[in-house]
Amino acid sequence: MSTTTAQLPSTQSAVAAPARRARLTLTTVPVHTPAPGEVVIRVEWCASSPLDLHKADGGLVVPSWPFVVGTGGVAGTVVSTASEGDLKGLGVGDSVISFAWGSEKMANTQQYLTVPAYLVSRIPEGISKPAASTVSVNLVTVFHTVTKDLGLGLPWPIPSGWTPKVADAAILIWGASSSVGMYVLQVLRHWGYRNLIAVSSGRHHDSLKDLGATACFDYTKPGVEAAIVKHLGAAGVPYIIDCIGSVEGTLRPLSKIAHDGTRVAIMLPMIIRDATEEEEPLYESDTANVLPGEWADGVVLRGVRTHFYLENEFFKERLQSEIVPALLAQGIVKPNNYRLVEGVSLLERAQKALDMLRQRAASGERLVWGVAEE
Ligand SMILES: NC(=O)c1ccc[n+]([C@@H]2O[C@H](COP(=O)([O-])OP(=O)(O)OC[C@H]3O[C@@H](n4cnc5c(N)ncnc54)[C@H](OP(=O)(O)O)[C@@H]3O)[C@@H](O)[C@H]2O)c1
Repeated sequence: MSTTTAQLPSTQSAVAAPARRARLTLTTVPVHTPAPGEVVIRVEWCASSPLDLHKADGGLVVPSWPFVVGTGGVAGTVVSTASEGDLKGLGVGDSVISFAWGSEKMANTQQYLTVPAYLVSRIPEGISKPAASTVSVNLVTVFHTVTKDLGLGLPWPIPSGWTPKVADAAILIWGASSSVGMYVLQVLRHWGYRNLIAVSSGRHHDSLKDLGATACFDYTKPGVEAAIVKHLGAAGVPYIIDCIGSVEGTLRPLSKIAHDGTRVAIMLPMIIRDATEEEEPLYESDTANVLPGEWADGVVLRGVRTHFYLENEFFKERLQSEIVPALLAQGIVKPNNYRLVEGVSLLERAQKALDMLRQRAASGERLVWGVAEE
């Protein structure tokens, strides 16, 4: 049952991947009426996620081909709501963003996606939809990673006078100019963690300091691991977030920095070989299979799986519906910079965005493109 279903078409176009590494195509899929607690969003903007490439080129978590692509962020307008269930106060006409995944009806490369209201955030005044589309996926990832994989506190609302028990412990964020990394810095700074060491290419260091980094290192410079170990001193680094998960690019250097007791949260999948025009990518999801014997005894490796964040009942009910909008409204978290991917049709924009992911064109920014046809 829904309030405005009559205004919705029964079918729509969506972008599909017909086979691994094949060119994308358009397909026709149903527009799903909202079940209790669900809303329908007219998709205006989507932000590509590297997971789109991991799926299209690597077949990662693809149950069967063809599949409707689009697991990244989305920004649009609520056009229909269920007439029952917890709608988190959402109504027709609200400007919203969402991090939704799983079934095809939630994919962000179709005009209408149908999604539980707890996976939706209202966009506060003053933030454009393309900018807002960059937020949900990786801001949610940060809450999940920090609490579940590092075991650190991010209480909400922050109790008066609360400071983290380990406020001065070093937290090393490798890949800090990635979308995940930029949200890590902003969240940890706000919650009072004040020893945030960022690793990125040098051109991003000033902006990362603005987001909360207290020291920056350039991973493209030889000897960066030794420079970081020297900076850490005897206290070492109890917490590391590897925002990239590249076996040679991030995990090998981190294996020279982590020590007995270090917890390392790694964004899955771990990348053995990146996708290129010539070669298929190779991925690994089991941390035990990566650089075995090269980590110090007592290092705790954790593969991050944000798709399980709903197991945390508090985050399920409040993270996207309440915490994300509040952080944006109060200016605590700024959306990522974004680059618009142009093209005359939905399919052209989708293909270009996928090609740009394969070329690793994004540096300190998201790739954002329009979904609703003009
Ligand atoms: N498992 C999960 O729950 C989960 C959740 C979210 C994301 N992820 C995964 O996490 C990864 C990152 O996602 P994202 O959206 O944040 O990526 P992104 O923004 O597209 O990442 C691009 C950035 O990666 C940086 N980078 C590349 N190689 C690097 C290296 N060796 N050292 C340091 N920085 C490096 C680049 O930095 P410079 O420009 O400074 O060179 C660039 O700014 C993806 O593989 C994604 O699928 C997993």
